[in-house]
Amino acid sequence: MRNSMTEHVAVSDDGPVRTVRMNRPDKKNALTSAMYAALAGAIETADASVKVRCILIQGVPGAFSAGNDLQEFMHVATSGEGLDPSAVRFLHALARSQRPLVAAVQGVAVGVGTTMLLHCDYVVAGTDARFSTPFVGLGLVPEAASSLLAPRLMGQRRAFSLLVMGQPLDAVAARDCGLVNRVVAPAEVDAEAMQAARQIAALPAEAVAAARRLMRGAPDEVVARIDEEVALFKERLGSAEARAAFDAFLSRKR
Ligand code: COA
Repeated sequence: MRNSMTEHVAVSDDGPVRTVRMNRPDKKNALTSAMYAALAGAIETADASVKVRCILIQGVPGAFSAGNDLQEFMHVATSGEGLDPSAVRFLHALARSQRPLVAAVQGVAVGVGTTMLLHCDYVVAGTDARFSTPFVGLGLVPEAASSLLAPRLMGQRRAFSLLVMGQPLDAVAARDCGLVNRVVAPAEVDAEAMQAARQIAALPAEAVAAARRLMRGAPDEVVARIDEEVALFKERLGSAEARAAFDAFLSRKR
């Protein structure tokens, strides 16, 4: 067991599987700077550990993640800072991870909650999962190299409806376009994903690493795209379009 720097991310090792749980249920697992840092650290230190052979990323019932904390985006929008350095560190860690990444998705997966899955090797989703990337509607651009990886995975048109039009995918649609391996009842998601992680961890580790490297190619192209998107994202965060969209969310009537 390891403790992370924030109570909102729980990291625990069970044999060869490291489980990283996003755990901020009252905010639907919206990601803060501290959470990004904890997530990045969990992936980076797994690479340095001979014991950890697979990383399982999961959320809570009803929420994988509602994406970047919009309050923090708002702060960035008004202060002119770019995307949080910890967020960028997390995205780089995903792209460069040498350990297979498994994800268990229940409920909402918004923004980076969806785009991080493009870096995962195996994804289990609950029938209640809902994937969406409202970047453009918020005046932003897609991130996490999704502008590269999503068209590659699902084709230009499906990627356009997801990334630009912001049309959500339910679990079955996500499976149909290759984002998800298996769809199970919400209550079974974590156990099903853990089983897959254990199965991966039981394989010969060097062969898994070599096969994975061959299948993914060098991470440099992906990292370069992340950085290109980050530069544009920074511009967009400062735009009037983005500010108006964050204001609308944060002051919505309920
Ligand atoms: N940033 C900050 N707070 C967020 C958040 C986010 N991305 N997503 C949800 N929250 C907060 C809500 O403000 C609410 O807080 P409150 O109880 O203090 O008012 C709480 O989490 C629960 O969210 P709520 O909207 O009531 O839940 P819901 O089940 O009706 O809807 C979502 C869930 C995810 C569909 C909805 O919250 C949403 O659209 N969030 C914004 C997602 C987004 O645009 N992310 C950025 C992508 S780039």
